[in-house]
Amino acid sequence: MKPVKAAVVGLGRLGGRHAENVARRVAGAELAALCDADAARLAVYAERLNVPRRTRDFDQLLAIDEIEAIVLVSPSVFHPEHISKALDAGKHVFSEKPLGVTAEDCLAAEQAVNRHPELVFMPGFMRRFDESYAFAHQRVKAGDIGKPLFFRGVSQDPAEGVREAIAFAPTSGGLFLDMAVHDIDLARWFLGSDPEAVWAIGDCYAYPEFAECGDIDNGSCLMKFKNGAMACLFAGRTAPHGYNVESEIVGTERILRISSVPQRNLVEIMDGGGVRRECFQRFLDRFGPSYLNEVQEFFDCVREGRKPEITVRDGARATRIAYKCKESLATGKLVETGL
Ligand SMILES: NC(=O)c1ccc[n+]([C@@H]2O[C@H](COP(=O)([O-])OP(=O)(O)OC[C@H]3O[C@@H](n4cnc5c(N)ncnc54)[C@H](O)[C@@H]3O)[C@@H](O)[C@H]2O)c1
Repeated sequence: MKPVKAAVVGLGRLGGRHAENVARRVAGAELAALCDADAARLAVYAERLNVPRRTRDFDQLLAIDEIEAIVLVSPSVFHPEHISKALDAGKHVFSEKPLGVTAEDCLAAEQAVNRHPELVFMPGFMRRFDESYAFAHQRVKAGDIGKPLFFRGVSQDPAEGVREAIAFAPTSGGLFLDMAVHDIDLARWFLGSDPEAVWAIGDCYAYPEFAECGDIDNGSCLMKFKNGAMACLFAGRTAPHGYNVESEIVGTERILRISSVPQRNLVEIMDGGGVRRECFQRFLDRFGPSYLNEVQEFFDCVREGRKPEITVRDGARATRIAYKCKESLATGKLVETGL
């Protein structure tokens, strides 16, 4: 079977990795074109990965007939427009999270996907493709923990990368849409339900710069799910020790914890600081294999003519819930999600 000819759009922190994966590691894919608004970055990746076609203009990219699939890693504010245009141009689409940065955005993206049942669309929630999360989910689905009643999710970026996060903040949609959206997706996935109400709090505890675009540096949220389950999420940009993602799923019979002490390997270092384990410093290190696995699944779906388990509805709902958290943070009130 011929490889699927693909283009990657947006070659920033994550897009560069997706482009490398599509070019070198994803079976059944061929990286045939690249698109980025930044000419210098475009040239670097086109040369490094030996990609024949490149453009700074998304519409021009869509006009290339031979491109069958688009891997979208543009800034979040462009996602709904890029998703709709790419699907209307007959391309299969993998889109990084979030689906958009407003509720209307999500609806537009969802409608575009529903207009094209003949095409594959997949939202990128890479944690579902991490070995440990996938294993835990199998256990929960098989009923091993009894009835899941509580999900706890912690996602912290290292303080070391905070300048990057501040620069990215104006187009990120804010802490809940940009970061907690992963935990929202996990909470829905593990608890098998949607939250009916959310209450979020947070502030700029260390970096007032986030407030300039209405964002915060640390926040948390309590959720009540329609099936009675609970979730508590915490997201922050100031972890002193590294990139820290940990989760807990409490069931009536068992409790599962994933990375409760985050560690990059099994080595313990004994020195003047005591006994310690090193932590991952970047999301690309912690979830490197997951970014590859999810895009591999997308291309497998395109080649095999099937749809991924994760749907546009999951992407839209997680984004909508994150937006409700943002609303709750702004009003200080408990917000009904309407789901
Ligand atoms: N799943 C995850 O864990 C994860 C991690 C990081 C980023 N992301 C998502 O990936 C997306 C990109 O994030 P990033 O951190 O790589 O951003 P980034 O700012 O590092 O890179 C964005 C790239 O897009 C290019 N660009 C800007 N406007 C464009 C346009 N109109 N058309 C084409 N290219 C354009 C920029 O020049 C830049 O190269 C965001 O939506 C973000 O939420 C997801």
